[in-house]
Amino acid sequence: MSLADDLNRNLRDGSPVLAAALSELGRRTAFPPDIPHQAAEARGKELNATIGQVTDGAGAPLAPASLRSAFGGLERKDTDRAILYSPIEGIAELRRLWSDRLGRSASAPFTLPQVTVGLTHGLSLVADLFAGPDRPVAIAAPFWGNYRQIFALRRGARVVTGPAYRDGRFNPRAIVEALAGEEPGRPAVAILNFPSNPGGYSPTAEERRQLVAGLLEEADRRPLVVVLDDAYAGLIYEEGVPAGSLFWELADRHPNLAPIKVDGATKELSFFGGRVGFLTFALPPDGAAAAALESKLKCLLRAAVGSPPAASQVALIGALRDRATPGQIEAIRQRLAARYRALADALSDVDRYLLEPLPFNSGCFALIALKENLELDSNDVRRELLERYDTGLIAIAPRYLRIAFCSVRRAALPELVGRIERAVRGMAGRPLGTGG
Ligand SMILES: Cc1ncc(COP(=O)(O)O)c(C=O)c1O
Repeated sequence: MSLADDLNRNLRDGSPVLAAALSELGRRTAFPPDIPHQAAEARGKELNATIGQVTDGAGAPLAPASLRSAFGGLERKDTDRAILYSPIEGIAELRRLWSDRLGRSASAPFTLPQVTVGLTHGLSLVADLFAGPDRPVAIAAPFWGNYRQIFALRRGARVVTGPAYRDGRFNPRAIVEALAGEEPGRPAVAILNFPSNPGGYSPTAEERRQLVAGLLEEADRRPLVVVLDDAYAGLIYEEGVPAGSLFWELADRHPNLAPIKVDGATKELSFFGGRVGFLTFALPPDGAAAAALESKLKCLLRAAVGSPPAASQVALIGALRDRATPGQIEAIRQRLAARYRALADALSDVDRYLLEPLPFNSGCFALIALKENLELDSNDVRRELLERYDTGLIAIAPRYLRIAFCSVRRAALPELVGRIERAVRGMAGRPLGTGG
């Protein structure tokens, strides 16, 4: 029996739903017992001649002083760790620190987080394991466009969508609607992203209840892997909007539903360029199923990026160890909350014959829809704003414009809204066919 067969059997014992939902690639995957495996077994031995990194013979790197000095603020031990290879699964201390952070809101067992190269890579690993040709991947639309590249372009999965909003309100049944035409019994992947990109929306307690009820219903029909893309976790600005991840509400709720948490330092700690993400399953950390998944993840990670970058993991370890960090993150959240309020105020006065702001309450973005009867294309409006108003937004075809208020000064947000309004009014007043 092959190593992968062994892992698949262990996974079936510990998580029948994840085993049933594995892709063909996911089934074949197992961390091979080659160099990193053997090097990990030799860690701490007096003579370790396993791995191709240049050291002083006692575990410290031989590196140019100029490189070392780039880590000037670090203790020697941390500088060494930043320069040497990271373990494939991530640096143990960082995994523990992130696990402690998750543990503060945990209501179910969870695996030790696997370090990934940003959240994109975590999602891509999920796609490798659970998406493949013709596998439906359900997403509320509009959604972060990279999901299409990650799941459909790279893995051949079929993206199916339901409307994120209906009649100007959040639609908690978007995933169920997206999967309505799918043959029962066949596995599916669903992606949830709150606070959302591009919507900047997090469901209320009642909307969460409906959303979870819909997913549990769906799991009566098929094995369902639910990916919680928690990129913007914590950026909540309204009282009464729950801040916790839906991961915890979905863990251990249905034998046919497996939540997977994708999160990381990118937005949660404003470490955008650090490329440190994490991938966590709702399974006991010491079980054989967790080990099987870790083996598969390490195999795929090694095949794509070798190992995750050590330097940014060490930087993140420093931030997570520092007691001042939570207060500093809160100060950033408060600045964003002020921008959120300024934008919400400015949009509350916007000309409703031109623009329809969709509900937003969290995260980094707000979404506005061009009124349908204007027959304007959002990309034309975006171009007009670039060319005549010195202003950049993101167009989401055919009618949406996304405002990233996280990167605009609070005082400038009313002017930003004014420019959008003026641009759209100008274009709507033009004879049709003159472009923009
Ligand atoms: C919803 C969502 N998920 C994932 C990511 C990717 O995060 P990272 O930059 O860590 O790859 C982003 C980044 O913009 C995002 O908006």
